[in-house]
Amino acid sequence: MRKKVIAANWKMYKTSKETKEFCQKLSQLLAVPEAVESIIFAPFTALAALKEGLAGTNVAIGAQNFYPQDEGAYTGEISLNMLKEFGVSYVLIGHSERRGIFGESDELIKEKLRKALAGGFKPILCIGEAWEIREKGEALAYCLKQLESAFNDLSAAEVQKVIVAYEPIWAIGSGKSATAEDAEEMLKGIRQYLNNNFGAEIANEMPLLYGGSVKPENIAQFMQKENIDGALIGGASLKAESFSQMIRFREMQK
Ligand code: 13P
Repeated sequence: MRKKVIAANWKMYKTSKETKEFCQKLSQLLAVPEAVESIIFAPFTALAALKEGLAGTNVAIGAQNFYPQDEGAYTGEISLNMLKEFGVSYVLIGHSERRGIFGESDELIKEKLRKALAGGFKPILCIGEAWEIREKGEALAYCLKQLESAFNDLSAAEVQKVIVAYEPIWAIGSGKSATAEDAEEMLKGIRQYLNNNFGAEIANEMPLLYGGSVKPENIAQFMQKENIDGALIGGASLKAESFSQMIRFREMQK
């Protein structure tokens, strides 16, 4: 059975002090169920506090960004080696905010994916369409193109180490999530693509996540779907109470 993944993307929120407070609260609330992989993607400046605050828990640490070079004259950038010091095991790649606001190209995303895999990090690759594309009925084709570009020339063994998150741009931070049915249809199509290109084993084993206005009130609807194995959560992950509720999404079904 595929592992469930509940991931928090804090974006540009939380100082070290706020991170410490979050972890203190979370540790009082949380026992992460065995079958759930839970991850927090924090800002770089909060990683030290997060590492300390999560010590002794089974919540993994993720970074929201990195530059795909070991070191060098890249003012303002952070390498994977630097992230290792903070216990980072996951990295986000291809988030629509990085693609849209910071102009990250498919080419850079491809390079980052390869670098993360070579460095032994676990990448969560984000894909997702804008509203105009969905309106035209081209959402799946668009997302598969993003996947193809990122996976192009990767071996099946490499693809196996990736987690894909479908985050429709119009659902991010808008309060307007996709319906569970729409998200399921997209992830089913993505699994089909994986099956056709990398084989049944990889298609069956890769956790596929949905992201976009997920919260304690709606997480169970998504998690009940056959092809949705987890959630990537922005706004609703910033409070320890609501993040821990979502980690225990099974209880939210009742
Ligand atoms: P929200 O949950 O705030 O919509 O953000 C989703 C997201 O972008 C997670 O990466």
